[in-house]
Amino acid sequence: MIAWIGGRQTGFDDTGQGDPVVFVHGFPLRRSIWVSQVDALSDRARCVVPDLRGFGESEAVDPCTMDRYADDVVELLDHLGIARAVVCGLSMGGYVAFALWRRHPSRIRALALLGTRAGADSDAAAIRRRELLALAADRGSAGVADAMMPGMLGKSTRERNPGIADGIHALLESAEVPGISGALHAMLGRPDSTPTLGTITVPTVIVVGDEDVLTPVAESERMHAAIPGSRLEVISGAGHLANIERPAAVNHVLGEFFASLHLT
Ligand code: MLT
Repeated sequence: MIAWIGGRQTGFDDTGQGDPVVFVHGFPLRRSIWVSQVDALSDRARCVVPDLRGFGESEAVDPCTMDRYADDVVELLDHLGIARAVVCGLSMGGYVAFALWRRHPSRIRALALLGTRAGADSDAAAIRRRELLALAADRGSAGVADAMMPGMLGKSTRERNPGIADGIHALLESAEVPGISGALHAMLGRPDSTPTLGTITVPTVIVVGDEDVLTPVAESERMHAAIPGSRLEVISGAGHLANIERPAAVNHVLGEFFASLHLT
């Protein structure tokens, strides 16, 4: 659905009943990546799934910041009358989750961090981002899709499930340049969240595919060591988009996590 929130067009879904969980997508994706999780989990949780600015049906702002994305999530929660939610962020959605924790900790009941990392961009990563910015300006989203595809899915998925690869490529290609550019600036400018990890006091589960080359397992292990009381779940045979590559396994982990929180 679409709503005008803070004067701008926002696309989101609000499905199911119970305690709220907000699912935040990665780059350069959109809310539809969570369809399997919403299908499986909306019988026990109210699943709120926004498009971040410039993706899907949400209006772009370029450049954007992680803080802006985080504040947008809170404005959506306000719009829906939700005081506190479990925040489930994938990759860039995890960077948004860290910004949410820094800015609005009272709005977070628990965290699920999928295929993400705490650190800011290294010099090499910043160079790659600037190359992607140039590619987006030059070749549009098709160029960005081609450049990003090799890292998005695990080896097992690429070998056994080429249909998933086709679907993800189409999704990447459908992203619009202002959204891509806004997000690249947001990621370039994001702070190092490593010091944030030790401040997290809500229940946290960290999920990563064992074939993730963009945010390798070692990144999740470091977060697990630094976030007090966190759980780490490694999904075998999955890459960066574990929730799409092995949805049943990820849904099982999230379902157990929600049960441990006694979500109604
Ligand atoms: C994502 O999946 O959101 C991106 O790969 C994150 C990043 O490029 O750092």
